[in-house]
Amino acid sequence: MSNRRTFAIISHPDAGKTTLTEKLLLQGGAIHLAGEVKARGQARRVRSDWMKIEQQRGISVTSSVMTFEKEFETDSGRETITFNLLDTPGHEDFSEDTYRTLTAVDSAIMVIDAAKGIEPQTRKLFEVCRLRSVPIITFVNKVDREGRECFELLDEVADMLALDVSPQSWPVGMGGRFEGILDFASGAISRPEGRSKEYLGTRDENAAIPDEFAEEIELAQAGYPEFDLEAYRNGDLTPVYFGSALKNFGVSELIDAIARFAPPPRPQPAGEEQIPPTRDEVTGFIFKVQANMDPSHRDRIAFMRMVSGTFKRGMKLTPSGLGKPIAVHSPILFFAQDRELADTAEAGDIIGIPNHGTLRVGDTLSQKNQLRFTGLPNFAPEILRRVVLKDPTKTKQLRKALDDLSEEGVIQVFYPEIGAQWIVGVVGQLQLDVLISRLEAEYKVEAVLEASPFATARWLKGADTALKGFSDFNRANLARDRDGDLVFMAKSPWDVSYQVEKNPELTFSATKER
Ligand code: G4P
Repeated sequence: MSNRRTFAIISHPDAGKTTLTEKLLLQGGAIHLAGEVKARGQARRVRSDWMKIEQQRGISVTSSVMTFEKEFETDSGRETITFNLLDTPGHEDFSEDTYRTLTAVDSAIMVIDAAKGIEPQTRKLFEVCRLRSVPIITFVNKVDREGRECFELLDEVADMLALDVSPQSWPVGMGGRFEGILDFASGAISRPEGRSKEYLGTRDENAAIPDEFAEEIELAQAGYPEFDLEAYRNGDLTPVYFGSALKNFGVSELIDAIARFAPPPRPQPAGEEQIPPTRDEVTGFIFKVQANMDPSHRDRIAFMRMVSGTFKRGMKLTPSGLGKPIAVHSPILFFAQDRELADTAEAGDIIGIPNHGTLRVGDTLSQKNQLRFTGLPNFAPEILRRVVLKDPTKTKQLRKALDDLSEEGVIQVFYPEIGAQWIVGVVGQLQLDVLISRLEAEYKVEAVLEASPFATARWLKGADTALKGFSDFNRANLARDRDGDLVFMAKSPWDVSYQVEKNPELTFSATKER
């Protein structure tokens, strides 16, 4: 189990996440030609319309999983580490998706563009890491480009995440004057071998640092806290590596750091309990469901993070939402270019389980059906819109689509207690664009979105009598979510605080456990 590293890559659009992913897979021997991830990405994109949005805007809106292995020399001989890399959507409108992905990993790599630094609109995306308090390794990409000052960049990172930064390497010159990367631990400089297009470094153990950079590097080495494994794993410190994904520079140092420092599978909360990876029983939870990955098959894949035990193909597991066991006959492992049937899986692994709607985000799967993993919330939407059908006879299809897509977490849906105006809620505008495209492409439903009178929503809880009393007075502001749970639709934040004050016997919750 200690040889699993399950991590997410998180970055703002264009920082180089795709390029870095490709190089990580390449170094792990998972793919042989750079460019394959992209090529595959494009093949995937043409499959459906909503992927077109991704293409047009040059952003990645789906999270996916990739597994690769690499051998390392350690004190006790050769060791093979299995890396499970989870991609996250590179846009803050999908922070909720990123948040859920972070529940399924043990650490994160944050990629920052050295040329641009952290732009205000991307802070929200990175701040999700702080909410989840996963340990973060920072990779400052594109040092081969003319960029920002490294000291400034590190200040931004420290400030945004409210933690210490500890550079482990430093670029010797940047942009046109880039001469290589100094590794603080060994004192060696990796230098570009020739100036060919895809150069790998040559390590120069006795390198002298050119005078013009000596002072800066001295400052960099002396000016920051030393790396401290415990502080990193507690989420109080981030080690920082510099590199260029495009030129394949600093990537092997990054992979080494993940292998050496990133935590192995951690225990997962199940109410008051923490379930350790060493538990015999096979347990896991669904953190993502993706429908119609292949529209010709109408498939629906639930992604399960294994928390404990050794899973074997064909094993019977009970999903908490279903209450009776299902046999998992065709679990899928995701490799760089392929999907394969998974014969076994260990704690930390991610397997895809094809199903027809039995598995839902937040479900626990286990052999004994005695525990429930917690911590996968829905967030109160910040944008609410009415869905209006162009063809009113398609109500049934629309309902199915809204249920499916809310299940996937693309949107949330609210069915008002009075009237037939269904309402969708999202955290970011882009989610609405995805909704409209997918309704058309996958469900053949044409719809438009109109303004709704509501600004936000709160899940309601309380004793039956209290709920009834409230309902009698506020029926026009009540709706049911996909699960039939009662939701208060508020016209403004003020409306929320007013009702909270007036109804102390009820709770108005901004999140809901899935
Ligand atoms: P993303 O997934 O985070 O959105 O970023 P992606 O890898 O697609 O990279 C965005 C752009 O930045 C690409 O250029 C890519 O080639 C470039 N890039 C990535 N890493 C580096 C680096 O280390 N140095 C430099 N100089 N550039 C880098 P593009 O022109 O938008 O795409 P393409 O035409 O190269 O495919």
